[in-house]
Amino acid sequence: MPSIQETAALLAHSLRMRRDLLGPRRTGVSRESLERLGKSDLRSKQSELSPKETPHRQISNFKSEMPREARLAALREAVSVCRKCEHLADFRTQTVFGVGNPNAELMFVGEAPGEDEDKQGEPFVGRAGELLTKIIGAMGFSRDDVYIANVLKCRPDMPANTPGNRAPTAEEVQRCLPYLREQIAIIQPRVLVALGKTAMTGLTGTDEAMGAMRGRWFTFENIPLLATYHPSYLLRNGSIGEKRKVWEDMMLAMEKLGMPISEKQRGFFLSAK
Ligand code: URA
Repeated sequence: MPSIQETAALLAHSLRMRRDLLGPRRTGVSRESLERLGKSDLRSKQSELSPKETPHRQISNFKSEMPREARLAALREAVSVCRKCEHLADFRTQTVFGVGNPNAELMFVGEAPGEDEDKQGEPFVGRAGELLTKIIGAMGFSRDDVYIANVLKCRPDMPANTPGNRAPTAEEVQRCLPYLREQIAIIQPRVLVALGKTAMTGLTGTDEAMGAMRGRWFTFENIPLLATYHPSYLLRNGSIGEKRKVWEDMMLAMEKLGMPISEKQRGFFLSAK
């Protein structure tokens, strides 16, 4: 059971994170109330940071000794009340934060929740999610071993009575990106896999075609970042050759993580290559 001081520190951290991410007016959290709560805890550490450090680094570092679970929980709470995109906040059933192991070595980044994810509050639970889960299984992991998140935490809104999902706009991506950056800064995976162009462009600003980016290593905040096709692409264009390309990307990720790859795994989707 946490002590009263630890609970106060956690609450102060959560409120401060909300204030930093959403701004004081949106959160209604005043500097005075933070000071009353957190005199003892984080402020002194924050002031030690160099002004060059980016805001998401500051948020992460000033209480980096807190367990990752608690830091993710505080961030999840901040995300759950976000109204930076009013139109998305009005449209969503709930925000979709992320799922998996807070200590994951491998983290997948997708685009945005779709209808299924919006209903269930978990990323990649629809058809594309089923395929991603299979890919993760073929690598020798379960969903609980890795971490899965999206660039956008809200489902992009659709006109009334219109089925399907849409891609996020560049503005929506820019507004939501600090949350993903913060998730990555907390989890510190050894390998990041961007699923599709929205994720890749969001993380790197690189605007090349997916065909040119996939299978190549990039970096995001010094973390090796690999681009591969989004599972929805494979659902639309599921030729064995395209599946093999994604599988080769996954083997690159496995190699980077130092995982053994069996002969059987090496042969997946090879026949029609
Ligand atoms: N597509 C995504 O990019 N993310 C999801 O969570 C579901 C589908």
